Amino acid sequence: MSFARLIPPLASLATLIAAAPAGAAIGAPGLGDAYFPLAGNGGYQVRDYDLTLGYDPATDELDGEAIVAATAGPQDLDRFDLDLRGFDISRLQVNGAPAAFVRDGQELVVTPATPVGAGTQFSVAVDYAGVPPIVRDPDGSIEGFVPTSDGAFVVNEPQGSPGWYPANDNPRDKATFTFRVTVPDGLDVVGNGRLTGKVTSAGRTTFTWREDDPMAPYLATVTNGRFDVSEGTTGDGVPTYVAVDPARASSSAKVLRKLPAVVDHFSALFGPYPFDSVGAIVDDAPGVGYSLETQTKPNFPYSPDEATLVHELAHMWFGDSVTLTDWSDIWLHEGFATWSEWAWEEHLGHRTAAQTFKRLYSTKARDSGFWNPPPGDPGGPEDMFDGTIYTRGGMTLQALRAKIGEAAFGRVLKAWTAENRHGNVATPDLIALAERESGQDLGDFFDVWLYQPGKPAGW
Ligand code: TRP
Ligand code: ZN
Repeated sequence: MSFARLIPPLASLATLIAAAPAGAAIGAPGLGDAYFPLAGNGGYQVRDYDLTLGYDPATDELDGEAIVAATAGPQDLDRFDLDLRGFDISRLQVNGAPAAFVRDGQELVVTPATPVGAGTQFSVAVDYAGVPPIVRDPDGSIEGFVPTSDGAFVVNEPQGSPGWYPANDNPRDKATFTFRVTVPDGLDVVGNGRLTGKVTSAGRTTFTWREDDPMAPYLATVTNGRFDVSEGTTGDGVPTYVAVDPARASSSAKVLRKLPAVVDHFSALFGPYPFDSVGAIVDDAPGVGYSLETQTKPNFPYSPDEATLVHELAHMWFGDSVTLTDWSDIWLHEGFATWSEWAWEEHLGHRTAAQTFKRLYSTKARDSGFWNPPPGDPGGPEDMFDGTIYTRGGMTLQALRAKIGEAAFGRVLKAWTAENRHGNVATPDLIALAERESGQDLGDFFDVWLYQPGKPAGW
């Protein structure tokens, strides 16, 4: 496989950095992700994003005022970058004072008038406007602030966030969010967390959404348009907020009615639901080919089937609360969410996960596309959402269940979500946990299932 097209366009940024005064401490241009090396910045951690946005679907114009509250470190910060694509920036301030900035691809490189000392809290205010650029991934899929016939469908995995707000775009830098979004009267805005305000004036309505739990930047959403909204609670008492495009109302109703039961069942199986609210957004966004586990409210571009609803809700535990550290570990999200679909069918008394495994395992070894790439090593961002990351990833967990037994496997699931709640993980953490709970040496098992190409034969 050729990696040539994955080499990032570092040259112009390198020139900028080389021109910095000697001894200046600079936030690294990226956080060093294997697949998205330029995304994020190592020089600071974001605590909170406060996003005031106005959107007009008639023109597709977005204007934004972002206030990013961060803490500098581990070094003093003479210069740092955020990720932001497109838009005109009319004003940029650090701690209330104008700051110099340069644009370079997705990097917004900021030089504060006064350096920010390590450990110091600071704020960055960015005023920006323009038509949001659609972000295209290495696998050809699109994301960001994607216009629909009546609003916009807003999803960002893995790299759409800089298409609508300035972000430290790395899943390791979780933060709380406030979204204050103004749209023409008659439209709804649906964001993460809880709706804390709705005010109409002069033909426009402002919705305020607050996500109080830490959230990776790619899980943010403010999908907007015409929606039928229904609110309730699950049996366990988690508030629900479900928004459905009227064109999708009848085709989605039956599946959406299962949402509370799915959340309550997974709370029993995986441990307490990790956020303050749950729900779903069903839109009509034909250009986007995938659903997304946006935190507290998965986004669906069309009416989901039951398996898809269940998959996205499982991601609230696996992906949203317990989040990968590097995108190459994407199986930690997709493998768990896929296994969860099988566990739901088992719970309903349909097919057991063991039966699903058996059926899938009968796939011939010569069916290379089914077995490769191995889920723990997709090889590059163009293959990170390949079928095997999902299917063989889910099979890895079912094989683990069979190997260590029901009791130990149950403890692994619950400890994984409890010990890493709202945190970040890597595959060796899971291996260590499974070894701890089972008392078995599982190095070869995980190597065969996650890293060796071809159909696993002995484990
Ligand atoms: N994480 C999504 C899911 O499985 C899928 C997804 C997000 C995706 N971004 C993508 C699939 C880009 C293909 C391409 O629920
Ligand atoms: Zn998924």
